[in-house]
Amino acid sequence: MPTKTVVFDAYGTLYDIQSVAEITEDAFPGYGEIITQVWRIKQLEYTWLRSLMRRYQDFSAVTRDSLAYTLRVMGLSYEGEAFERIIDKYLHLDLYADATDALTALKPRKLAILSNGSPDMLNALVRNTGLDRLLDATISVDAKKNFKPSPEAYELIGEALGTAPGEVLFVSSNPWDVAGAKAFGLNVAWIERVTPEAMALTCVETELVAPLTMFKAIRTQMDELGFAPDHRVRSLSELAGIIQG
Ligand code: LAC
Repeated sequence: MPTKTVVFDAYGTLYDIQSVAEITEDAFPGYGEIITQVWRIKQLEYTWLRSLMRRYQDFSAVTRDSLAYTLRVMGLSYEGEAFERIIDKYLHLDLYADATDALTALKPRKLAILSNGSPDMLNALVRNTGLDRLLDATISVDAKKNFKPSPEAYELIGEALGTAPGEVLFVSSNPWDVAGAKAFGLNVAWIERVTPEAMALTCVETELVAPLTMFKAIRTQMDELGFAPDHRVRSLSELAGIIQG
């Protein structure tokens, strides 16, 4: 079936969540990397816990709460200004270098984001990075008050774009999101930025495991959930070459 619609995850797929490290290191010298990794791990964990507890709060609240957790457990005291400066970076995350060209190459297909991000976070981020000129829709799971990978979240694609799951290619770098989208019935492309070979090599090379290495081991390798992607590519720029029609 020709792919007329391509829907992207935002954080980690189009936007590099590691780009907060400059701000966290500036705010807390020597702690930048560990804050960045623990924060992202807890942020995702809180989305899953809130969905399972049926106690939804939007991604803006979850992002703030997970940062507060991270700074507290590291014994870091802070003023509101430093906290807000870090949080503000989520509205100005770095786009991956090939993102704009990759989306341009996919036109005139319909292009959208489906993200856990709250509407205010996503609309600001998309506007600040110029992707609003390329996207036909920016869809937040907030409408369902339930985070990905719940099926209700992926239902939003059909509800917003009028597409059947089989007509859509969903693109994510997050293995848990790949499994959720595949379980829902979408065609899925995984942006596999950390290869198993690179992962294994990093773990062997040093005794001291850097926080980023721990993050990569936890969040970048395909999960054992029984839902494999239809496509595995190393970068967004490869997408145009794998799509029929
Ligand atoms: C997103 C990240 C959280 O939904 O995967 O954009």
